[in-house]
Amino acid sequence: MGQRLSGKVALITGAAQGIGAAIARAMAQEGARLFVSDRNVVGVTALAQELGATPLAHDVTVEAEWDAVAAAIEKATGKLDILVNNAGIELVKPVSEMSLVEWRQVMAVNLDALFIGSKTLRSLLVAGGSPSSPSSIVNLSSIAGLVGFPNQAAYNTSKGGVRHLTKSLAIEWAAHGHSIRVNSIHPGCIRTPMLEMAVDLWVKTGALPAEDPWAAVGALCPMNTVGDPRDIAMGAVYLASDEARFVTGAELVIDGGWVAR
Ligand SMILES: NC(=O)c1ccc[n+]([C@@H]2O[C@H](COP(=O)([O-])OP(=O)(O)OC[C@H]3O[C@@H](n4cnc5c(N)ncnc54)[C@H](O)[C@@H]3O)[C@@H](O)[C@H]2O)c1
Repeated sequence: MGQRLSGKVALITGAAQGIGAAIARAMAQEGARLFVSDRNVVGVTALAQELGATPLAHDVTVEAEWDAVAAAIEKATGKLDILVNNAGIELVKPVSEMSLVEWRQVMAVNLDALFIGSKTLRSLLVAGGSPSSPSSIVNLSSIAGLVGFPNQAAYNTSKGGVRHLTKSLAIEWAAHGHSIRVNSIHPGCIRTPMLEMAVDLWVKTGALPAEDPWAAVGALCPMNTVGDPRDIAMGAVYLASDEARFVTGAELVIDGGWVAR
């Protein structure tokens, strides 16, 4: 076990599976005290047992549930050093078939929740940070927040919003003298339940071949492979640690070269 996050308290949302679970495992290995939250209570409770973490039932779209999360952390530790806004949903649908309700649901989970969470936990993050060891918000955006992809306009737009909310908060809180850094991570194709659902859909619609669709997804990437959740987790550990003490408002692209072309 390493010590890069020793003494730090972290909250990871959407931690029941995929990238969130990988970030939780990596942060536990680096010595952080963890709160893991998800609307999937069974999944996040199992992960918490594995890691000796505290599970929290938490739908990130509900403001009152953020208040309850803040109260639980305040009572247990009185501070927060790391907030990983990871919970997210994908919607694969062309604009012509997308309802306003669907559009707003994607925005609620992927973007509005980051506004609510950052605002609600700000004072605990202020308590956790100091000039030599600022606290850290890590926001999960996507390469879809940097470039467009067809048939997922709501997702792309929400992730573009995450990128810009990240920079806005980084600058605003630095101007207010808060020791809180705010950065975004932009994963490419990472093999998780979310991407598995999308790949199934792309196979059904003929966008990917039925035979070995994962090889085809990998072939879209310059490095000719699909990423692993741990590839993202190691970036999150870096941004959360004091190694990144002078890094704020930045976007860390982890995509096997996708947007470098
Ligand atoms: N997998 C990829 O290729 C990829 C690429 C770019 C960005 N991302 C982003 O990374 C993050 C994690 O993605 P993943 O692939 O692990 O997804 P996933 O679907 O496998 O896991 C997402 C988790 O978020 C939780 N969640 C969803 N809505 C929630 C809500 N309202 N409240 C609380 N929890 C909620 C789910 O229960 C689940 O545990 C997301 O923000 C996603 O947009 C993923």
